[in-house]
Amino acid sequence: MLITASPDVKASEITPRGVYEARRQFLKAAAALAFAPGAAVARQALSTKPGPYSTMEKATPPDLVMSYCNFYEFGTDKEDPSRYAPKMLRTRPWTVQVDGAVKNPRTFGVDELLKLAPLEDRVYRLRCVEGWSAVVPWVGFPLAELVKRVEPTGSAKFVEFVTLADPKQMPGLRAPVIDWPYAEGLRLDEAMHPLTLLTFGMYGEILPEQNGAPVRVVVPWKYGFKSAKSLVRIRFVERQPATAWQKANPDEYGFYSNVNPERDHPRWSQKTERRLGTDGLFARRRPTLMFNGYAEQVASLYTGMDLMKQF
Ligand code: MTE
Repeated sequence: MLITASPDVKASEITPRGVYEARRQFLKAAAALAFAPGAAVARQALSTKPGPYSTMEKATPPDLVMSYCNFYEFGTDKEDPSRYAPKMLRTRPWTVQVDGAVKNPRTFGVDELLKLAPLEDRVYRLRCVEGWSAVVPWVGFPLAELVKRVEPTGSAKFVEFVTLADPKQMPGLRAPVIDWPYAEGLRLDEAMHPLTLLTFGMYGEILPEQNGAPVRVVVPWKYGFKSAKSLVRIRFVERQPATAWQKANPDEYGFYSNVNPERDHPRWSQKTERRLGTDGLFARRRPTLMFNGYAEQVASLYTGMDLMKQF
């Protein structure tokens, strides 16, 4: 089991003020350059409209979010995904199979999928189970938009997300860290919740490979590992699907994995977190909020459930 509580922030991770803006300008200029498939490329700008539910908190500097990543298919060090994914992951052509208990099963090309509904900017808090957090401006649309179009049947109770597992593109698959492919799941009502975002970009541009290009899911009230990257299949099922981390260690990782400061991980407390880039080396960790601060929107999904047992 490799997920561990993270050590305190390194001085090198603290990005000076202004770097975000400078980087944005650089990205805009770079986006004008030729697109070179398979290489570390300039990101393309995405046109969006402001979405609801965005936090007013300051976004984490993009260079941090793009270099301090969890994407075990590329290795378990935080720098491995940004080192290998831009060179190795081919994000076009790319298809996402949407099937199972639905009236209209369909395989979408990712560019088709991207045009299914208007893209929105959504600034969400991301809380990793390891104890760090970030504020990320994602670009996407509610997963519900896709769900409505494929029309789940009465027997669809859960949604399973399956992600790419290609040993030719993903050197991390050589290590049996989890039972590949990385798979996740949500209850259908969680998948339909307006906060759940089918995500194609961040910081106004297409997703970097290391952050789950070309399409991932983002579920902001759950620990980050529920937000599966580089999706190839979305399947509607009757029974609760097995998920990668739950299979790897059911005592430590549950199906729901809602952010809950009252329920400690068996090996560390979940009461506090450190915010990447903004909490200085000696700054106090900040308290973690129930449902990662989204209780008002999502608590009613869990009425009557014992969240200490169904974690
Ligand atoms: N998706 C896949 N396919 N593989 C992974 O290893 N890691 C998860 C999640 N999605 C992971 C994944 C974890 S533990 C976290 S915290 C988030 O991605 C991190 O997303 P970020 O690197 O874009 O911040």
